Parts: sequence; structure tokens; C-alpha cells
Amino acid sequence: MGNIGFEYVKTPFRFIAKWKDGEWDKGILTEDNVLHINESSPALHYGQQCFEGLKAFPTKDGKIQFFRVEKNARRMQDSCERLLMPQVPEEMFIDACRQVVLANKDLVPKYGNRETFYLRPFVIGVGENIGVKSAKEFMFIVFGIPVGSYFADELTPVSFKTTEYDRDAPNGLGNVKAGGNYAASFLPKKEVKEFGYAECIYLDPTTHTKIEEVGAANFFGITHDNKFVTPTSHSILPSITKYSLLYLAEHNLGLEVEQRDCLIDNLKEFKEAGACGTAAVITPIKSISHYNNEHVFDSGDGVGEYTRKLYDVLIGIQYGDIEAPKGWISIVSE
Ligand code: PLP
Ligand code: COI
Repeated sequence: MGNIGFEYVKTPFRFIAKWKDGEWDKGILTEDNVLHINESSPALHYGQQCFEGLKAFPTKDGKIQFFRVEKNARRMQDSCERLLMPQVPEEMFIDACRQVVLANKDLVPKYGNRETFYLRPFVIGVGENIGVKSAKEFMFIVFGIPVGSYFADELTPVSFKTTEYDRDAPNGLGNVKAGGNYAASFLPKKEVKEFGYAECIYLDPTTHTKIEEVGAANFFGITHDNKFVTPTSHSILPSITKYSLLYLAEHNLGLEVEQRDCLIDNLKEFKEAGACGTAAVITPIKSISHYNNEHVFDSGDGVGEYTRKLYDVLIGIQYGDIEAPKGWISIVSE
């Protein structure tokens, strides 16, 4: 396991395209990592922006590949639509990600350390504006950085705590990847970290009885009768990792899968639980604290049987060691 963590570093090239008068330009790769935008840009004042996160994976035979990159492209289109920003065409999104990987190829980690090249595409509303309204000009940018694990070392169980703050409103922006959702999460995360927890668990904003998300990852549990269960809600981000695990749990592991409410007062129904996402991969959950109760899952400090199997098959596919379902992998470099 490497130890580069999840930190920004300046890499040589990033892609920048501009939208003006109804269309995107071709975009360029540039070495300049500082943006020059108008002080009144709606992205700065009214949060008119969204982003994505995906990884380029090194394989044993020296290739570099994307995992379900078109899902990130489509989710960013959904985010843009909700935030009244022009959508980036799918081919343009994928091509920009490819260009950034290839231009920074020397910094893509080698196979073997569970390290990847993380890409951060984003769209911002820019240009002169002061009223509360949409920008007239936009930028689409993709930069990339080599990363290791997001939480502790991958597969090290961590403990979470619920928060009374809501991540989002029931019909708000929770289902899109808007930066404001993350700004709203800084304070709750700081508070639980002060008590030694890795992240907070958000409950549903209407009743505060159901698990929604784990900070910047989705939640899943494995029941005592071996069902893979994950919450449904309009206010959680549709995680590409979560949908992949739903498929793999059913088709590769032969588990029954359920998308339904996960009650915070009924955690005992799960023998294992985990957080899943691009950055989090699969992070086993040791325990969840809710007010004065701490529920420790049966897997405790260890990694539960099904969490490990899901992890192995997921990363096996992502790093090219296990055959992927059709269409999940696209090769960036042979
Ligand atoms: N939930 C939130 C709030 C996130 O930021 C992320 C990360 O993108 C996820 C869930 C996991 O989504 P994905 O598996 O598509 O990375
Ligand atoms: C991701 O998993 O890509 C995320 O966006 C999570 C976080 C780093 C924001």
C-alpha cells in the first residue's frame, strides 16, 4: 500500500474549455494551474458550479483505464442541467479526461500500490454578473492528481457519527454534485472529527430516522441473511460505485440486493457495513455513533466477509485483474 493519500499537487497539464455565445470551444491543455476569472462570476457568489471525480487505473500489463467514465459524464450533465449551466457533451468530457491522463502520463502511479490518477472535472459560471441569475459564460476544466487512499488505509475499518445537520433539503441539490453541498459539510465534519470520528453520517432531512450518506460516499449494509442493502433517497448522490456494487453483489456474489430505507435505530440488522465511492472505494465501517449509542458492527475491527469480497471484485475489475461486465472499462493508454 502506498502512502500518497488524497492531496492536491500541481501536475504538468490541465484541460480548459470555454462556453460563450451558445457553444463550447475546442479547449486546450495548459500548464497554468491558476484561473483568471471575473470577480463577479456567479460561481464565486452564488455557487453556480458542479464537479465530478473519477480515476484512471493502472493495470498489471502497463495499460491505463477508466471505470464507467460515461456515467461521470452523464452525472455531470444532470448537475449542469439542475444548475442551469450548459451540458458538456459526453464525448468532450471523456476526451478531455483522456487528454489530461495522457499529458500527465509520467505521474500516473504504477500498478501494485492501490494508487490511481484522480481526475477532477468541473464546470463554473463565470463573467460579469451581480444579480441573482445564471452566468452567460462558463468554463469546463479537468485536472488530475496521483492519489492513494481517502480515509485511512484502504480496507481499514473506521468509525462514523451521525450529525444533526442536514446535508441537503429533501428536494434540494443532494442528488447532484454541486460544490455547495460540500461547503455545507465542512462544519459537521469538523465537529465529528473533534470527537475522533472519520466522517459524519447524514440522516434523511425530513424525519432524521434513516441513513442517507456517509460524508462524500454512499452507505451499504450486509444483513445477517446476506442481503446487500443500500438507501434510496432523492437527496443522496447517485454513486457510480454503489450502482456497480449493486450489480456485482447480485451477479458476482449471488447476493439478494435491496434499495430501501436503512433506519438508524435498526443498525443491528446489519452484520457488516461500508462506505463506497470513487475516493472512498469501499471503506468498512467499524461503528456508528448516534447520540449516546455506539453500534459496533459484528465485523468490528476486521473486514467482514462480504465487504472483502465486494472490495476484491470491484478493485479487481478497476485494475484489470478481473473481467469487467461489458462496457465498464475503457482503455486510455495501451
Ligand atoms: N456521495 C457523495 C456526496 C459523493 O461526493 C460521492 C463521490 O463522488 C459519492 C457519494 C460516491 O459517488 P461515486 O461512487 O460516483 O464516486
Ligand atoms: C469522489 O469520490 O470522487 C468525491 O467526489 C468525494 C470527495 C473527494 C469529494
